[in-house]
Amino acid sequence: MDERCTIIRGDFFDYDFPRAAYDSVLVGFFLSHVTEAQEALVFATLARLLVPSGRFLILDSCWSEERAQVNAKVERQERALNDGTRFEIYKRYFDRHDIGGWAQRYGVSLSVEHFGTAFVAVAGGFTDGTAAGARDHRNLTQCSPADQD
Ligand SMILES: C[S@@+](CC[C@H](N)C(=O)[O-])C[C@H]1O[C@@H](n2cnc3c(N)ncnc32)[C@H](O)[C@@H]1O
Repeated sequence: MDERCTIIRGDFFDYDFPRAAYDSVLVGFFLSHVTEAQEALVFATLARLLVPSGRFLILDSCWSEERAQVNAKVERQERALNDGTRFEIYKRYFDRHDIGGWAQRYGVSLSVEHFGTAFVAVAGGFTDGTAAGARDHRNLTQCSPADQD
């Protein structure tokens, strides 16, 4: 495992991910902690770091009748770490309409693999060459000699 994995500790939004370098990305319980504005950055980053045929899997919390008994759809929650420190975190829950919005806004094709009372699993990829490698390729092929330095 150590030889095959690199663990990076840092802010997702500050990290300079290599371009078109990953075949797949697992986004685990992250999107539900970012705002809609940040969500757009997450998808833009996925488009940049995935190879053209790359796929992602989003696992997160979903909005359901059961969930609505105990939570608001968007809320702040208190969390405590093992060392006793307490934090207030931002949390939102995704319904099918939210997920459909990802397809419309971010140029992704999606397949909802599971939509339960607590969790949702959404598999997807970027369509029409939105992923970085395809875009780079398109830019290269559209570049005429006169465009080059
Ligand atoms: C609910 S936890 C999920 C952890 C893990 N992915 C899992 O599924 O068990 C959300 C994680 O997102 C991390 N996180 C939140 N904002 C982040 C950011 N801007 N950059 C990197 N990690 C972030 C938090 O530190 C936390 O570990």
